[in-house]
Amino acid sequence: MSVPLIDGFGRVHRDLRISVTDRCNFRCSYCMPADGLDWLPREDLLSFEEIERIASLMVRRFGIDSIRLTGGEPTVRANLPVLVGKLAALGVDLALTTNGATLGLLADKLFAAGLRRINISLDSLRPDRFRDLTRRDDLHRVLDGIDAAVAAGLDPVKVNAVMMRGVNHDEIVDFARFGRDKGVEVRFIEFMPLDADQSWSSDKVVPLDEIVSTVAAAFPLVPVERSHSPAAVWQYADGRGSFGVIASVTEAFCGSCDRVRLTAEGMFRNCLFAVQEHDLRGLLRSGAGDDEIASVVAAAVMDKWAGHAINQVHFIRPRRSMSQIGG
Ligand code: GTP
Ligand code: 5AD
Ligand code: SF4
Repeated sequence: MSVPLIDGFGRVHRDLRISVTDRCNFRCSYCMPADGLDWLPREDLLSFEEIERIASLMVRRFGIDSIRLTGGEPTVRANLPVLVGKLAALGVDLALTTNGATLGLLADKLFAAGLRRINISLDSLRPDRFRDLTRRDDLHRVLDGIDAAVAAGLDPVKVNAVMMRGVNHDEIVDFARFGRDKGVEVRFIEFMPLDADQSWSSDKVVPLDEIVSTVAAAFPLVPVERSHSPAAVWQYADGRGSFGVIASVTEAFCGSCDRVRLTAEGMFRNCLFAVQEHDLRGLLRSGAGDDEIASVVAAAVMDKWAGHAINQVHFIRPRRSMSQIGG
């Protein structure tokens, strides 16, 4: 019998995001410092068996029904399809967020292991700009990766574009057209203060209203009723698909948040912006039983705050960058 993983505001948590590595084959400026990060030593990472144990406990004890693998870049973890197979066997809605660069090689293997849907990060469709943003000349690889994901049968394939004023906000219509042409759902993401180089400022945020009106001026739209997902979605009136906006800054969705997180070294976080973590790896490795781990998880969720307060004076930036938390 499972009990709901509930917090002090009555929010029930059903969605677990697991970072499988802090490493990445890109160096996106907003995600990693230019001189890189010190990668975690191998023994600090949770093993596949440890990840499976926590995931299985979360499913059995708390009714978690949705798991997303993140990084760093999850596909740089060796034998990722093996982990996908283990987690798919739990019967959850299993998804992956990736930079897409290695999907040309991996998409079929991930699908065969049981992955059914995928989100791919891509912040510019222009080769020069892509290189400046990621410090890698790999746009063609990511575009091939998107095609490979579609060809493998992953559905939906979503493309995440973080919009930053003065950096890529002039590509809104290009991204919309790209999504329509490729048959993928582009999601425009408001830039959040989780950037490694501390370049975030509120004037860099391109708000939902501006994104939607820019797309609407090029392609007539029909709104879609809001679901549990952070993305608000619009359909193209001519029936050629849809796009989303993740408005974490201007229209925070914390009130309906159902997410918890596990970092690559086994720290449990009750919020993307959490400043406190709970060491599940230490518990696992000291031989703790399921009851003990479950009670730490339940208490950590009970402690969750109402929301991230990005727009308020008392907002505290988490010590860790996005690549270490896992998006
Ligand atoms: P689906 O809607 O299930 O496809 O996944 P998703 O959009 O939640 O996941 P994805 O990893 O693609 O994340 C897209 C963007 O949403 C990223 O910028 C994330 O950092 C952001 N995001 C994901 N979860 C949260 C969250 O709990 N809080 C906030 N504020 N942002 C989040
Ligand atoms: N604000 C919003 N989204 C971000 N991502 C990375 N850094 C930020 C940020 N500061 C996105 C990535 C990826 C997802 C996991 O999070 O582009 O799509
Ligand atoms: Fe949930 Fe925290 Fe994200 Fe808000 S910022 S939606 S509380 S994880």
